[in-house]
Amino acid sequence: MTIMLTDRPSFQALEAHYRQIHQRHLRDLFAEDPARGERMHAEAAGLYLDYAKNRITDETLRLLVALAEDCGLRKRIDAMFRGDKINLTEERSVLHTALRAPRGKCLAAAAVPDAGKPVQRVLGHMAKFANQLRAGEWLGFTGKPICNIVNIGIGGSDLGPVMAYEALRRYSKRQLNFRFVSNVDGTDFKEATRGLSPEKTLFIVASKTFTTLETLANAESAKQWALKKLRDPAAVARHFVAVSTAAEEVTAFGIDTKNMFGFWDWVGGRYSMDSAIGLSTMIAIGPKHFLEMLDGFHAMDEHFRTAPFDRNLPVLMGLLTVWYNNFFGAQTVAVLPYDQYLKRFPAYLQQLTMESSGKGVTLDGEAIATYQTGPIFWGEPGTNGQHSFYQLLHQGTKLVPCDFIGFRQALNPLGRHHDLLMANVFAQSKALAFGQEAPAGEPYRNFAGNRPSNTILAERLTPAILGALVALYEHSVFTQGVVWNINPFDQFGVQLGKVLAQEILPSLARDAPLPEDDSSTVALLRWYRAG
Ligand code: F6P
Repeated sequence: MTIMLTDRPSFQALEAHYRQIHQRHLRDLFAEDPARGERMHAEAAGLYLDYAKNRITDETLRLLVALAEDCGLRKRIDAMFRGDKINLTEERSVLHTALRAPRGKCLAAAAVPDAGKPVQRVLGHMAKFANQLRAGEWLGFTGKPICNIVNIGIGGSDLGPVMAYEALRRYSKRQLNFRFVSNVDGTDFKEATRGLSPEKTLFIVASKTFTTLETLANAESAKQWALKKLRDPAAVARHFVAVSTAAEEVTAFGIDTKNMFGFWDWVGGRYSMDSAIGLSTMIAIGPKHFLEMLDGFHAMDEHFRTAPFDRNLPVLMGLLTVWYNNFFGAQTVAVLPYDQYLKRFPAYLQQLTMESSGKGVTLDGEAIATYQTGPIFWGEPGTNGQHSFYQLLHQGTKLVPCDFIGFRQALNPLGRHHDLLMANVFAQSKALAFGQEAPAGEPYRNFAGNRPSNTILAERLTPAILGALVALYEHSVFTQGVVWNINPFDQFGVQLGKVLAQEILPSLARDAPLPEDDSSTVALLRWYRAG
């Protein structure tokens, strides 16, 4: 049985240290150490992380690194890259890092020995298909080139594709039109297909399991929508492809496995945007840019695997999250990208972080009662957030650690816009950290400051930088999971609601007997059926 986090001497040393330094103000920490801003940064894979505006000293960092070592982070990193079945509850390896390992590169003594070969085979299949579509050579059933691509998927089979499409839109083929359908709410499908010609539309049905209710319902509606116009079931082969690990289910749906792009049970849904789940991304930006994105992921993987913890970006960010979550009692982390193309990045991170870290039992199956696990991640692009919720960040009673993300070069230079944008990044983290005293008699103008943030900078938003950024958060979440001794790779918490929805479904029919259920659910059903 592993020792409980709170019983570890390394954790208790941090508790004692917290008591000593938690009231220290960032103003004083900076005043005492003029080199702090230069010193407290780390760089890897094209990313520059400034962590100087955190409520830490060198001793804090030393103790956090000691905690990571005590929790066995080094061994756990090696076990993940080696392909050990570290997803204990599902008895699976966790090898999303194999998806972006360069061709021919042997993963360190991989327990999944041939992972590289099928990865390259699927990448080749994706590239061939993407190139045909991009060249207008993939024709629909009636001989017209496909120009609309609709990705149907949910969770990891949607959030990665839509985030990457938005993030890399600048690199996308503009003649192609991309839409994304995830919600089982019919509005999503109706609006996404509005104005599209079935003759020119391709659906990518993306589902790891191919059993997800929302995706199957949308895929079924898509089939009806297409066949209403195309009339012949043989048309499905030209207008539907699948991305899945489940060949049998794909065939049962009517999609030829020739048109299926596979992946493997060692890729978690929320870690799958660089697998075949990224097919829509590859079609949009082309195989070359897609491979550059994989290179960016890989550069961060290698950094995470090999860099000393005190210079390791994902380890530093993971440990800082632990610091605020477990010692300062912070409940949330705000992610604030100052780039409009990253508008879906916070939504993407919500699944990555919260489906991974929203756990209440340890790897040994013990209920966690003495410490907190995953915080809530949320955010919006700057500067929009500034005119919305930043008021609370600056003057509210809650501590919200922030991650600012910005770029030196604009992808769409326009007058002084980029300088204005970046001036706001630097101003916001400064205002949060140092605050400003109120004029006498005007306490509502007081900015107490001492509100921590990281700033992540890069030259410009490229496919490689996006890969590095996503891998940074993936491995930061892994680091947190090791400290909290949880399994970041399962998601049993989503099951109960799914099962209950299936149970409740028949009771929505007016003539069905009302179930013997709790009185609130029965009252809600009665109201719904009465209309
Ligand atoms: O319900 C949660 C979940 O299992 C996610 O983990 C996953 O990304 C999503 O559903 C979609 O699953 P699938 O790709 O199998 O349709």
